[in-house]
Amino acid sequence: MFGSRELETSLTTSAKTLETPPKAAQHPPHAQTHAHPNAKRRTPAEPRPHAVAASGLSKHYQLGGETVKALSGLELTVPQGQFLAVMGPSGSGKSTLLHLLGLLDSADSGTIHIAGQSTEGLSDDALTALRRDRLGFVFQGFELIPNLSARENILLPAEVAGRGAEAAETLARLAAVLGIEARLEHRPTQLSGGQQQRVALARALINNPVVILADEPTGNLDTRTGEEVLNLFQRGVRDEGWTVVMVTHDPKAALYADRIVFLRDGRLVGETLTGGADARGTIERFVGV
Ligand SMILES: Nc1ncnc2c1ncn2[C@@H]1O[C@H](COP(=O)(O)OP(=O)(O)OP(=O)(O)O)[C@@H](O)[C@H]1O
Ligand SMILES: [Mg+2]
Repeated sequence: MFGSRELETSLTTSAKTLETPPKAAQHPPHAQTHAHPNAKRRTPAEPRPHAVAASGLSKHYQLGGETVKALSGLELTVPQGQFLAVMGPSGSGKSTLLHLLGLLDSADSGTIHIAGQSTEGLSDDALTALRRDRLGFVFQGFELIPNLSARENILLPAEVAGRGAEAAETLARLAAVLGIEARLEHRPTQLSGGQQQRVALARALINNPVVILADEPTGNLDTRTGEEVLNLFQRGVRDEGWTVVMVTHDPKAALYADRIVFLRDGRLVGETLTGGADARGTIERFVGV
């Protein structure tokens, strides 16, 4: 079921409905289509545009007269078509980073580019459109709307984008892959934590986003469902040209990614590619597991 060609066909078909990124003309041709047929044939030497580029990113919170430096001058680029895991201790700024990259909150300083487009000085409407058309977000707390059914929650971003009709088919495929077909008419409170998480994932994927930002997407899932979600990300990255930025505390989940970056006190303090023999050692060194 999970590895069905049906899903691949569905994702590819829906991917064709994506608009060309506004500044994609600056990039090589493969950056312009979401579903790149040659994705598997890319060589490491081939230049790839950045799906996400953050520079000098700082975010400080004022809390009871105290300043919390959630992010301090963070630098991060994520090439298009990369599966990136973000690790770091609790409070190191992972969710803050994802919220900023997801254009859900503004930084105190620094810049963010999405698919080559600067987000600086964009109006609220332009930010909303960019978020809606390019980004899929899985929040740490799921953030499902309580008085809507699972189906309505999942379809909401598509309806807001005027793509409700096309999305019905994608919904059916995602529901099958995520094993929530029998729960689509339930409200969030009538779902288990893992089911809510899968609904949140389906909602993030419904518009076939270019960049998926996921905060602990496997945190509430049993091992098998967690692996399915990680496989879904891997296959989307490999076959559909997705870029995934996934926060996780779980080294096993992080090893599904292509690359892992480590945050501490609002800064990147290290990174590793997972293909190398030293990846596990690097995880141990930075997160002490
Ligand atoms: N709205 C806020 N107001 C004040 N402080 C905040 C706010 N949001 C986050 N913080 C603080 O910023 C720091 C980074 O928080 P963040 O949520 O990004 O951490 P995290 O790495 O995601 O942690 P966790 O692994 O526990 O989810 C923490 O010290 C947190 O207390
Ligand atoms: Mg967090």
